[in-house]
Amino acid sequence: MDLLGNLRRTKMCGEFRSTDIGNTVVAMGFVAKYRNLGPIIFVDLRDRSGIVQVSFEYGEQTQELFEKAKKIRNEYVLAITGVVRSRGEKNINANMPTGEVEITCTDLKILNVAEELPIVISDKAKNSETLSYQYRYLDLRRESLQQKLIVRSKICHLTRNYFEENGFLEIETPFLGKSTPEGARDYLVPSRVHPGSFYALPQSPQLYKQLLMISGFDRYYQIARCFRDEDLRANRQPEFSQIDFEMSFSDSEDVMKIAEGLVRKVFKETINYDVPETIIRMPYCEAMERFGSDKPDLRFGMELNNITDIVKGSSFAVFEQCIEKGGSVRAINAKGLASQYTRKEIDKLTPFIADYGAKGIAWMKKTEDGITSPIAKYLSVEQINALVEKLNIEVGDIVFIVSDVDSVVYASLGALRIRVAKQFGLVQDGYKLLWVTEFPLLEYDDEEKRYVAVHHPFTAPMDEDIPLLDTDPLKVRSKAYDLVINGEEAGGGSVRIHTVEMQQKMFGLLGMTPEDIVYRFGFFVDAFKYGAPPHCGMAFGLDRMVMSLTGTDNIKDVIAFPKMQNACCLMTEAPAEVEQKQLDDLYIKITKSE
Ligand code: AMO
Repeated sequence: MDLLGNLRRTKMCGEFRSTDIGNTVVAMGFVAKYRNLGPIIFVDLRDRSGIVQVSFEYGEQTQELFEKAKKIRNEYVLAITGVVRSRGEKNINANMPTGEVEITCTDLKILNVAEELPIVISDKAKNSETLSYQYRYLDLRRESLQQKLIVRSKICHLTRNYFEENGFLEIETPFLGKSTPEGARDYLVPSRVHPGSFYALPQSPQLYKQLLMISGFDRYYQIARCFRDEDLRANRQPEFSQIDFEMSFSDSEDVMKIAEGLVRKVFKETINYDVPETIIRMPYCEAMERFGSDKPDLRFGMELNNITDIVKGSSFAVFEQCIEKGGSVRAINAKGLASQYTRKEIDKLTPFIADYGAKGIAWMKKTEDGITSPIAKYLSVEQINALVEKLNIEVGDIVFIVSDVDSVVYASLGALRIRVAKQFGLVQDGYKLLWVTEFPLLEYDDEEKRYVAVHHPFTAPMDEDIPLLDTDPLKVRSKAYDLVINGEEAGGGSVRIHTVEMQQKMFGLLGMTPEDIVYRFGFFVDAFKYGAPPHCGMAFGLDRMVMSLTGTDNIKDVIAFPKMQNACCLMTEAPAEVEQKQLDDLYIKITKSE
């Protein structure tokens, strides 16, 4: 007979309520807590739905059962049959959904035993990070992690329903493909059959989804796994998932409408949050000018101000030299925070902004006695007054000023703005969403000494900027759009190039020779010769969406088996060496540098 025999669960552990009182039920789960109080033993039985209390009472009829119950330990796996009882007024636990009831056990099956665990299964426990990830399957028993993966599953379900309702087809695309340039390094898979040749795992399904448009599938979506070998951060994993979609005979308005509809549905149905009817759109230039970032966090103010014109002509050599070289001087006003910034606190900002390339930071405080600032002596009274007016400097405020090339000023002040807001609790609750549009099509890569695509090479330029492709490519804006939620890039996409000529031109601008184009993208460019409909699309970072909706800033919390910062899996110890035979099969020889 099977271990369970005819036993099947009446309900999940977390579902028992007072309406079950008097019923004989079966529950199964893990032992979250075991308390032996002498004549009575309590067990908290846990499954993914929650916990129910089970009691074993000592009595003449129940001696055998009681002796068996004494053997129970934490994390044993049990099947219990029993009668649901009221806990009685005094013993109600209002913190538990099942807190009004308990199950008095009449029959116990120990389905499995458990050794003492290497970590404590509790959201309150302070387990070592290494052990938690090494025993990830145990850490995943924690309620908060289970809840996050439950939300993730719900989002996937809602996503599939939403796209199906809107006429999209779910189509899978290959993992084993040819390298697509998405900006990161590829993960390569050696081919055994073709020695010396490699597949690349997809950084995204970009090329395939465009080809599906050329095949006439019209509306495609996929919850797609993507692989990127890049430096990991709190919101980046080497393998992550995208909610990817593409549509033909449409333009950016259609994509934004579909994307907004999905976000609205997901926010409403997972956390009952109403995303506003209108999501603002902000051109890239404005986002950089005001927030120093192409993914501005609108939950707080402290915008950047360009004060170049005001400080121009001062005797402060740093500003003057910077302005002369075409740089700018910009400032943020940390309102009311002057007293928080002692000399020591201010000194800490220098290494912080240095990470963003800035060589220094100036500050200006207003106290009851007037303005204090190490640079005040270089500025005229008129200049100081003009700064006070422009930056609305009031008593108690401290202003931070950086001068450098625009990119450094934006990066450093943009990051400082976020640091100050987070440190002093200025971030409002709730969600602030916006579209950032009109990104530059290209940027110049100083290392590679060539233009690179800001999004990817398949993004269409704005029609009115096409002539600039020949004269001033860095001024060309693209038809790309990113959806930003609370300062994170939740998703991004674009209208695509759909003619051979424009695609060739774009590849050319990226420094590819006609031979390169044929070798790397021949199949793709060819496809455009046979009738390519205008098309556009987008991809959301699924993991990031789950992070937003579950309130975590650690991407590992929303992935069942994530990788660590160094791209290792502590549980499986991947990546690992393989047997010589496997390497031989692949004609691979390892040369290790000492
Ligand atoms: P993009 O590269 O902007 O666009 O990726 C889309 C979204 O995926 C998420 N994302 C990541 N999430 C976790 N870990 C990572 N390493 C990671 N990298 C990206 C982000 C991002 O907004 N093919 C295009 C989309 C298109 O044009 O349709 C693409 O992949 O949330």
